[in-house]
Amino acid sequence: MRTAPVLIALVAALADLGAQPRPAPGQSVVLITGATSGLGREVAQRLAAAGAHVIVHGRDSARAREVLDAIAQGGKGSARFYAADLASNADIRRFAGEILRDYPRLDVLVNNAGIGSTPNERSVTAEGVEMRMQVNYLSNVLLTRLLLPRLLASAPARIVNVSSLSASPIDFDDVMIANRFSGGRAYGQSKLAQVMFTIDLAAELEGKGVTVNALHPATMMPTGMVLRGGYTPRSTIDDGARAVLHLVQDADAGTGQFFNGLNPGRAHAQAYDVAVRARLRELSERLVGLRR
Ligand SMILES: NC(=O)c1ccc[n+]([C@@H]2O[C@H](COP(=O)([O-])OP(=O)(O)OC[C@H]3O[C@@H](n4cnc5c(N)ncnc54)[C@H](OP(=O)(O)O)[C@@H]3O)[C@@H](O)[C@H]2O)c1
Repeated sequence: MRTAPVLIALVAALADLGAQPRPAPGQSVVLITGATSGLGREVAQRLAAAGAHVIVHGRDSARAREVLDAIAQGGKGSARFYAADLASNADIRRFAGEILRDYPRLDVLVNNAGIGSTPNERSVTAEGVEMRMQVNYLSNVLLTRLLLPRLLASAPARIVNVSSLSASPIDFDDVMIANRFSGGRAYGQSKLAQVMFTIDLAAELEGKGVTVNALHPATMMPTGMVLRGGYTPRSTIDDGARAVLHLVQDADAGTGQFFNGLNPGRAHAQAYDVAVRARLRELSERLVGLRR
C-alpha cells in the first residue's frame, strides 16, 4: 500500500509528458544528457530539426515538457524524456537500464550535463564523492560503459564528451579536493578527467566503429551555469551548439581528439600522460562500481 503515492506520482508524470514517441525505422537516435537547458537543449532541438529521435535527459519534467513541445512544434524529428540524477550511480544504472530496454539502437551519446565552477562550496554525493567529479566526469564513465554495447551494436556510432578548456591537474593524493577546495579547481579537474577518459576510450575503440571526442564548446556562453555564476557572456549558445554538432554529424571529426570549438585543440599536458590516465581509469572504475 505504501507504493500507491509513488505510483500515482509516476502516472501523473507520464500523463504530464503525454504519449512519448518511438524512433521510426532508420531514424538516428541521439541521447543528450542535460538537454533541458543551455547548450544541451539547443543541441537537442537542432538535432531533432535535422530529423533525429532525441533522448532528452534531465532532472525536471516541466523543463523537459518545454523541450518536447518545442521539438513537436518544429514538426521534424521526435523526442522522449528520461529523468536521472547523475549524482547517483544507482540512478545512472536505472536510467541506462531503461535506455537499453527501450532502444534497440543508439547512434550518438552526448555527455553534456554538468555543474559549473560556482557555487564555491564543496559538496559530496551520498557516496562521499566530490560532486563535480561525479556529475561532470564519473557519470560519463558509468553511463558510457553501460551503453557501450548498444553503441557498438549500432556502429558507426559516436560519443561526444562536452568538456572545457578549464583544466586543473589531478592530484591523486586529494582527488576529492578535501583541502584547498575551490569550485574552479573542482570544475577544472572534472573537465580534464573527461578529456583523459576520451583519449583512453578512443584508443580502446579503435577500429570498432565507435568514435569518441571531447570539446570545449565555446567560452562563457549565456547558459544556466554562466548566468548563475554572474559571469559576462563572451560567446553565444549557437557557437557552442555548432561545435557539438560538428562532432555529432561531420565526417572529419575523427576520434580521440580534444576540440576547441570547431578546431582540433590541445588539452592540458596531464591529459597526454599515459600513466596518469591509467591511474585515473583504475580509480574511476572503482568509484562507479565497475571494478573492485
Ligand atoms: N556555458 C559555457 O560557456 C561552457 C563552456 C565550456 C563548457 N561548458 C560545458 O557545457 C555543458 C553544458 O552546460 P551549459 O553551459 O549548457 O550549462 P547549464 O545550462 O547549467 O546546463 C547544465 C545541465 O546539466 C544538468 N545537470 C546538472 N547537474 C545534474 C545532475 N546532478 N543530474 C543530472 N543533470 C544535471 C542541468 O540540469 P538542470 O537543468 O536540471 O539543472 C543542465 O541541464 C557542461 O558540461 C559545461 O561544463 C559550458
